[in-house]
Amino acid sequence: MTRRAAIVGGGVIGGGWLARFLLNGWDVAVFDPDPEAQRKIAAVLANARRSLPGLYDAALPPEGTLRFCDSIDAAVAGAEWVQESVSERLDLKHRVLSQIQAALAPDAVIGSSTSGYKPSDLGGGVPRPAQVLVAHPFNPVYLLPVVEVVAHTTATQDFVDRAMGILRSIGMKPLHLKREIDAHVADRFLEAVWREALWLVKDDIATTAEVDDAIRFGFGIRWAQMGLFETYRIAGGEAGMAHFLAQFGPCLTWPWTKLMDVPDLDDALVRKISEQSDAQSGMRGIRELERIRDDNLVAMMRALKGRNWASGQTLREHDARLREPSATVDWSQPVETAARAVPIDWTDYNGHMNECRYLELSSAATDRFMTLIGCDADYIANGGSYFTVETHLRHLDETHAGERMRVTTQLLDGTGKKLHLFNRLYNEAGALVATAEHVLIHVSLETRRACLPTPSLQQRLAVIQAGHAGLPQPEVIHCGRRPASN
Ligand SMILES: NC(=O)c1ccc[n+]([C@@H]2O[C@H](COP(=O)([O-])OP(=O)(O)OC[C@H]3O[C@@H](n4cnc5c(N)ncnc54)[C@H](O)[C@@H]3O)[C@@H](O)[C@H]2O)c1
Repeated sequence: MTRRAAIVGGGVIGGGWLARFLLNGWDVAVFDPDPEAQRKIAAVLANARRSLPGLYDAALPPEGTLRFCDSIDAAVAGAEWVQESVSERLDLKHRVLSQIQAALAPDAVIGSSTSGYKPSDLGGGVPRPAQVLVAHPFNPVYLLPVVEVVAHTTATQDFVDRAMGILRSIGMKPLHLKREIDAHVADRFLEAVWREALWLVKDDIATTAEVDDAIRFGFGIRWAQMGLFETYRIAGGEAGMAHFLAQFGPCLTWPWTKLMDVPDLDDALVRKISEQSDAQSGMRGIRELERIRDDNLVAMMRALKGRNWASGQTLREHDARLREPSATVDWSQPVETAARAVPIDWTDYNGHMNECRYLELSSAATDRFMTLIGCDADYIANGGSYFTVETHLRHLDETHAGERMRVTTQLLDGTGKKLHLFNRLYNEAGALVATAEHVLIHVSLETRRACLPTPSLQQRLAVIQAGHAGLPQPEVIHCGRRPASN
């Protein structure tokens, strides 16, 4: 049977919760008095629909049904989970939570998105305090998995376990805090960083853009994959966490920050942190942790490169420098169209480069060939390009992470609308590891139909074709062949 959730308060956060439940197959009812609520929720939902399902390699369940209600009672009736996400005001939260409880079964879970209030604050103004737990998410709720769960002291373990199970079932990573504290855990870090940032900007030490760059080009990427303590454990090197603390402990009393209320880094705290760090990461050696870190950083930075954003933009700029065209191309020989190391995230469970990456590399080589013949960004912006219509790949040998690959391109036919290319992929030792044969057709990007290239592009291709005419033909040619008939 379809499970039912209710969202009370459908703003930035409520809308995100709504999308997460809905796209994970729950029926969702929502109440928000804002006359614009439907429009705003539709916008959040549209973003969630285009981003969330693609995170998974398996299909999400069929989307649940969405109902807009005109009262809290109507929205929460029969719900298994109610997420309260109204504005951050305690009197409002008390009123809304009490109304929710009046219409809801006592065994249903009420999560509150509150960023700052403790369960005891919320419970102080409602009939059944144990039923309300803090379920504090991060924006966008439909993508970011973490949710801080803080239960009221009178809540049963069974209730908390059930709540944690539900959050996991919609793809979240619940973090159960054992004791309540204002602003929970994650917002404390954000608040500390935020306060420092405000001082840096106020005192003209850094602009807002410089503050952001200091985060996103460096420690922000590190934090995304190992957090704070595991990262610092590595920084301690082979001597470990205790060494790190001993080395950097004294700075705590130096004026490195405006936040000068620091704990005493005495033996007891050093031991506590070292023991917890051992339990967290001690099963792996420092070199292994370093390799895991590096692999994660490569994967994340390459993902950002695909988006041409933050550290990924820096990678692209450096790529462009590395790829600056050589002064002359010898058109009597196959042209070198790609040269690169195999990145870590191109290898698969067999430890070698995954077969689809051979095509990716060959496709990059073809793009480069297009640029060399004049079908570059300007040409494409003017409405012409080539689309691939046929590809044949032969995988001849293995290649591994870090190995330097080279690709050459031979033009087999560049007449009319056709571009028939033969790419050879070589490994570091110069052995042929794959061949890729591609046929592309020149198209108008306006009509999306085949058309002739510009005369200057045709002339260029004619020169290259004449140069390549004397080259030996590939051992096997597939494209343009009819299937053999019996
Ligand atoms: N914005 C964030 O980054 C963030 C992150 C985590 C948690 N939170 C928490 O989430 C909660 C909501 O914050 P937000 O950023 O979504 O605010 P928001 O202003 O975008 O949304 C609040 C919504 O509550 C609605 N509302 C007001 N009174 C209501 C009532 N009586 N019944 C039903 N709905 C009512 C408003 O119309 C509005 O749509 C707050 O408790 C906040 O601390 C916010």
